[in-house]
Amino acid sequence: MEKLRFAVVGCGSIGKRHIAVLDAEPDAVLAAICDIDEAKVKELSELYGGVPYFTDIHKMLNEVELDFVNIAAPHGLHASLSIEAAKAGKHILVEKPMALSIKDCNAMIAAAKENNVKLFVVKQNRFNAPIKLVKQALDLGKLGKLFMVQCNVMWNRHQEYYDLSEWRGKLSLEGGALHTQVSHFIDLLIWWFGDVVEAKTMIDTKNHQIEIEDCGISAIRFSSGVMASLFWTTCVYNQNLEGSISIIGEKGTIKIGGKYLNKIEFWDVQSYPMPEETTFEDLPNNYGKYQGTSSNHDKLIHSLIEQFTTNRKGVVEGDEAIKTISAIETIYQNV
Ligand SMILES: NC(=O)c1ccc[n+]([C@@H]2O[C@H](COP(=O)([O-])OP(=O)(O)OC[C@H]3O[C@@H](n4cnc5c(N)ncnc54)[C@H](O)[C@@H]3O)[C@@H](O)[C@H]2O)c1
Repeated sequence: MEKLRFAVVGCGSIGKRHIAVLDAEPDAVLAAICDIDEAKVKELSELYGGVPYFTDIHKMLNEVELDFVNIAAPHGLHASLSIEAAKAGKHILVEKPMALSIKDCNAMIAAAKENNVKLFVVKQNRFNAPIKLVKQALDLGKLGKLFMVQCNVMWNRHQEYYDLSEWRGKLSLEGGALHTQVSHFIDLLIWWFGDVVEAKTMIDTKNHQIEIEDCGISAIRFSSGVMASLFWTTCVYNQNLEGSISIIGEKGTIKIGGKYLNKIEFWDVQSYPMPEETTFEDLPNNYGKYQGTSSNHDKLIHSLIEQFTTNRKGVVEGDEAIKTISAIETIYQNV
């Protein structure tokens, strides 16, 4: 099999992780990198053996032979950059959130379809060991009827995280904390409990100079009937505290916790103990002064290549990822 040729567009905090993963992936070629910041992309090119670098996606698409374009740019640009890649006949792996509106997501899906390319969205937490265990228990119906869920995203983002960025904290480019920090969790909740059909939400901005919220609470009902409370904040003092999902079912209770959905903190399921040999080694992405969620981009990109070449399922495609954006629109409605 010929190796798939990838480019990365947007070479900031997570774009660098895409670059490192592609460089190390035996079945991929890192064929180009692109960022509007020329100094940044030039330095990365030097670090990665002189990989061709560009400051304009259009020029890159015209000049380099590519199979995939990975988009790791600000949220407000996901739709336009994805559509441009689709029109050039390239498959797309776009970072979460897929885009900032249902309208944009639909335009991306349409562009991929019209140009006969695939559109994938990064949801790397699905590869975390605790998430795989819980998915298996739920698929087997081990918790019986599902009643309630509590999801907590209690993280720290310092003011500099927003101040040093062109787009974070800005409504038109970031959207809100649901798009950035919480969309990982919403993806899992929808995967397990169905679409969000009802939400009553309060948001506030308490401790940052930003246009978006840094605190929120929502009471949610999913299409399965499961009720949930979603609690999110970037105001926790000094460091991240918790990223958790607790599930209350008729025949069992599970709490996935740690700071990044990286541990099972409680497991009491009738006739279905947690497999003893399980190890929890998922690490967070580390950005120096703050830590993000799981760094399983290597597993995701490896799975993407397998999926692409063998027609398997695993990495989320656009028609599934749009559900998170629809849920976010419902949760923010009327606030
Ligand atoms: N999956 C995850 O765990 C995870 C973690 C962090 C960030 N992200 C997502 O990745 C994306 C980027 O986030 P980040 O934290 O790396 O942001 P960042 O600000 O660190 O990097 C964004 C980069 O995009 C570049 N850029 C802006 N406009 C561009 C354009 N038109 N063409 C090419 N490059 C352009 C900027 O110069 C910058 O280098 C966001 O969607 C974010 O939500 C995902």
